[in-house]
Amino acid sequence: MLLRPKNTLDIITFGHPDLVQPSAPVDRVDQEIRELVRDMLRTMYKAPGVGLAAPQVDVLKRICVVGFDEDGRHEELALINPRITGYFGQESGYDEGCLSVPGIHSVVFRPSGIMVEGISLQEEPIRFQAEGFMARVLQHEIDHLDGILFVDRLGPAEREKLAQQLARLEARTQKKCKTAERRA
Ligand code: NI
Repeated sequence: MLLRPKNTLDIITFGHPDLVQPSAPVDRVDQEIRELVRDMLRTMYKAPGVGLAAPQVDVLKRICVVGFDEDGRHEELALINPRITGYFGQESGYDEGCLSVPGIHSVVFRPSGIMVEGISLQEEPIRFQAEGFMARVLQHEIDHLDGILFVDRLGPAEREKLAQQLARLEARTQKKCKTAERRA
């Protein structure tokens, strides 16, 4: 984890091996976790993005944040150990992108409603139902905690269309990883 000025974190990209690893549950919400969440929110807003999961900043812990404006209101959530416990509503398609897959986007089909359980930053159990854009972003972020990217949710034809772009991004990422190794 590299700290940049103002505590924004480096986001790892497609081709980095940690992006496809499952993350481990958090057993205590301590100061370190709260600081990580703060830095993740900063990093997400600066990018700018509407969601960020800890593995994207190369921390393999089950933490995600979301933040966006909807209907004139700002929605922001930080979830520790989030779990989807149920789905409802119809599947719908939405053109998704990801801060770890820059420059690439595609329509992903997902259920429009979810039941979520997790732990708050105050270490209290939380349970809620999300619909629409919030449900969309949460499903995308919770997927990250299992090492799943939105491109893994595409059908073979859609994935094939992106194959070249993904291969180029993967090569760029691997070059960057090698340079970092040499410096370390
Ligand atoms: Ni993403």
